[in-house]
Amino acid sequence: MESICVWGGVALQGKVHIQGSKNAALPVLAATLLTGDSSYIRNCPRISDVHAMVSLLRELGCEVNWKEDGVLVNPAGICLGEMKSDAVRCMRSSLCLLGALLGRCGEVVMEHPGGCVIGSRPIDLHIAALEKMGVSFAVEGSRLKAVVKRLHGAEIRLEKPSVGATENVILAGVMAEGDTILHGAAREPEICALCRYLENCGALIEGTGGETLAIHGGRTLYGTDYRVPSDRIVAGTYLFACLVSGGNILLEDAPASEMESVLRLCEQMGGHVCISEEGIYVQGPAVPKAGGYVRTAAYPGFPTDLQSVALATASVAEGETVIEETIFENRFRIVEELRRMGAEIEVLNDKKVLVRGVPYLTGCEVEAKELRGGAALTVAALRAEGRTTITGCSYIYRGYENICRDFKELGARIISV
Ligand code: UD1
Repeated sequence: MESICVWGGVALQGKVHIQGSKNAALPVLAATLLTGDSSYIRNCPRISDVHAMVSLLRELGCEVNWKEDGVLVNPAGICLGEMKSDAVRCMRSSLCLLGALLGRCGEVVMEHPGGCVIGSRPIDLHIAALEKMGVSFAVEGSRLKAVVKRLHGAEIRLEKPSVGATENVILAGVMAEGDTILHGAAREPEICALCRYLENCGALIEGTGGETLAIHGGRTLYGTDYRVPSDRIVAGTYLFACLVSGGNILLEDAPASEMESVLRLCEQMGGHVCISEEGIYVQGPAVPKAGGYVRTAAYPGFPTDLQSVALATASVAEGETVIEETIFENRFRIVEELRRMGAEIEVLNDKKVLVRGVPYLTGCEVEAKELRGGAALTVAALRAEGRTTITGCSYIYRGYENICRDFKELGARIISV
């Protein structure tokens, strides 16, 4: 399933179920290592990043079995914190195994974690925070070695609200001796999801959802039954797809309360949104309106993971939209591909683009160069004349269970080849 072909021009109609959240599932799966017995993680998305995490857990000695509704992880067999697998290099979220393994084994050897090719993605904040908790780091060739005799609580301040560093401090903190006070924590809903899982297991964390967390370490953690929340980024992708195509859809189970900034932009671009117990109903306008000034920011700001999709939508909107990316560098790789489809986008500087909307795009061959950019090209293709072929789609399957099936069920003319 490397390529996706889309024949644009169909307004999406009907309902689509929103999968479990990738960014919540991955740290929760890492956290299962910290408990004494099995955890059942329901609503776990069947995406390639999760499959890679499952392979890593198995490599570390966990027994992991997929069930109908989720995945059962038994961490009893863990003995060594050594990750040899290539999965580390291609999946940045393997980094949250660092905090978990230090908590469980006191030693980790891993390749430098990879992920999508969006900027340099340093890990200095992770290292500085864990060092404060007693961890020593050494670089051995391309590998990182982390060792700790006994994790201890600490007062830590993050210079930037890094999602991954916040998760690592939480994972190490629940296993540490004493309390960890974390200032400047990221507030993304996926961090709350991790805290909820750990609290279900018996951990005590105060301040969940805020900038300061108090993690009380040293409590015995037990396995639990946990449901991964729905994916706000997938829901946002489908919501903008509805705007682009001029459709009318229900995003079943979409986490509306986590999507305020996204829903605001949707309404600004001419969409009508109605929130009910079932999820979010969206009605797209015949032609989307321009988005004004869109600036990505840490939660509750507009998510960087939906920046490319917003850009694709602005490409077919009436008027001009400025998009500023403040979280990652190198996150405008989609611009070149959208231009190939006829979009008018001016790069103002490496953080800002000006999009002059055109009535429709033209189908051609484009390449997905990273996960969210790939999904955004699929969205753009919904309003392109003729056939658009998106190559490099393995990136998309890192985060979307089956974007083709979902768009097809909503009426799109789309196939994977
Ligand atoms: C997570 C999400 C990703 C999302 C991002 C921002 C997962 C699996 N991935 O990525 O989808 O786009 O949050 O919401 O949850 N930084 C440093 N030093 C560090 C760590 C980060 O400078 O040690 C910088 C990064 O380069 C970036 C910013 O901090 O500019 C935010 O990165 P971070 O929040 O850590 O992103 P991830 O956890 O990698």
